[in-house]
Amino acid sequence: MNDCIFELSNVSYAYQKQLALDGLSLQIRQGNRVALLGANGSGKSTLLRLLDALYFPTQGELKAFGEILSEELLADDETNFAFRRRVGLVFQNPDVQIFNPTVFDEVAFGPLQLGWPKDRILRCVDEILARFAISHLKDRAPHRLSGGEKKRVALASVLILDPEVLLLDEPTASLDPESQSEVIRFLVESRNTGRTIVTATHDLDIVEDIADFVFVLDNGKVVAAGTPAEILTDQDLLRRTHLAHAHWHVHAGGEAHKHLHAHRHGHDHHAAPYAKYRPIRRD
Ligand SMILES: Nc1ncnc2c1ncn2[C@@H]1O[C@H](COP(=O)(O)OP(=O)(O)OP(=O)(O)O)[C@@H](O)[C@H]1O
Ligand SMILES: [Mg+2]
Repeated sequence: MNDCIFELSNVSYAYQKQLALDGLSLQIRQGNRVALLGANGSGKSTLLRLLDALYFPTQGELKAFGEILSEELLADDETNFAFRRRVGLVFQNPDVQIFNPTVFDEVAFGPLQLGWPKDRILRCVDEILARFAISHLKDRAPHRLSGGEKKRVALASVLILDPEVLLLDEPTASLDPESQSEVIRFLVESRNTGRTIVTATHDLDIVEDIADFVFVLDNGKVVAAGTPAEILTDQDLLRRTHLAHAHWHVHAGGEAHKHLHAHRHGHDHHAAPYAKYRPIRRD
């Protein structure tokens, strides 16, 4: 049986003249948690938008659930609705996503569209708002919140639907440590649940926990693929793809120096689950 959720063959995508994806071929299997790594501009967000059928390949072929995704296919309301029900994208920039007058309306929007009974909507909205510590923002206008608050609203509005395929674009960026833990905990707990999750991130610290497989993008191409352990130990690859970075340290004597390393420390594999997602000291 073919258990591929997504199959890309030689997919390219160009924004007018700007080539963003350049002949990508990859497969994402059902139940896999995949991380997309890559420097700014490498094509992660563009790829997620193609997987969410917001854009379509300008060249090559993208299959989702065994069918070729095309504008014509998604033009059919029923097909479009069925696809949107199965796949949820949390945008990198929440401003693109939020549009309702209040946080409550924003989070309840999807369930309302799906015709959930009112009591279920009220209960689930309450639960998810509490989970992301945004209950107190329920009646606020989402576009007038802080960046991290908006991001939490955007995450809540997608996670409430529990889609079978989740596409997360930098889900922990701009979140405070406690909210980051909540997102990471969800991703850790999604292991072996059958849910397929594709997460674009720059945070190498979290990759081992949130992903079973990694694709590294560079200039719109997949330049490496492997397990988190394989990718994260390849210092040369991380340096070439601008994923390792220099840390500046100031020592007691006031002397500063820098060294290059991949950003993954604070790892204690014997610690209690999630312990490392408490705020950790970054040296
Ligand atoms: N709306 C747009 N119009 C033209 N070019 C775009 C547009 N959006 C992105 N690009 C270009 O496409 C390429 C890929 O961008 P993309 O946003 O997919 O990168 P990314 O890996 O998500 O980067 P980041 O880490 O900064 O989020 C870049 O060269 C970018 O400049
Ligand atoms: Mg991006």
